[in-house]
Amino acid sequence: MLASGPPRKSEWFRLLLVGPPGTGKSMTAAVLAHELSLPLFTIRLDGLISRFMGETSAKLRVIFDATKRTRAVYLFDEFDALGAERGAGNDVGEARRILNTFLLFLDETMPESLVVAATNHPGLLDRALFRRFDSVISYDLPSREQALEVLQRRLLAMDTSTVDWDEVAPHVEGFSQAELVRVAEASAKQAILQESDALDTRGIITALNERRITWND
Ligand SMILES: Nc1ncnc2c1ncn2[C@@H]1O[C@H](COP(=O)(O)OP(=O)(O)OP(=O)(O)O)[C@@H](O)[C@H]1O
Ligand SMILES: [Mg+2]
Repeated sequence: MLASGPPRKSEWFRLLLVGPPGTGKSMTAAVLAHELSLPLFTIRLDGLISRFMGETSAKLRVIFDATKRTRAVYLFDEFDALGAERGAGNDVGEARRILNTFLLFLDETMPESLVVAATNHPGLLDRALFRRFDSVISYDLPSREQALEVLQRRLLAMDTSTVDWDEVAPHVEGFSQAELVRVAEASAKQAILQESDALDTRGIITALNERRITWND
């Protein structure tokens, strides 16, 4: 799919990944970097966009300059922070400037690097921003089958031969892929503590339910 070597000017330059927490957006950026043999740099925009917005444009410019010198995958995480700022009663003029700085950056040819932006809140984004991306990719919570597959893959090193997955299935509702990975790890740890590599149906369901309780706190 993605050949290594310099990417052509193609659809792959600017990707926007949209979806709920824990569905694999950051993971996608990491996989792309790995496949292209490029380093991955993550810029968390919510941290970068300070209340003192005058500094923000300057900080962004430093990053943008770096993208011209260093071939890499640049992940702009919490991308919606760019849009949210305007609604927060801040200096509207400065927020506009920050947005425009970003739009200019996206328009500049970046023959060597890949820009990936990720957000949980696409509603906060300006339409002008959406249009700047070559591809917008949606992420969703897993179906039951996918959820079970995430659990099973994470438990490949364990003995799950007695697990009745049909019985587990109704308990995976609402879990993100990231939460499921944590559940799998928690139940594996539990088994190992009991000096066993075998998991049973009850153990997995209990781990799912315990994880669900911590959400609701
Ligand atoms: N689709 C998936 N398949 C398998 N594992 C997944 C998937 N999505 C997420 N995971 C697991 O969950 C972890 C966290 O996911 P990731 O950080 O990519 O989520 P995200 O979409 O970036 O979430 P956030 O919006 O909170 O940043 C991954 O490192 C991986 O272990
Ligand atoms: Mg992420």
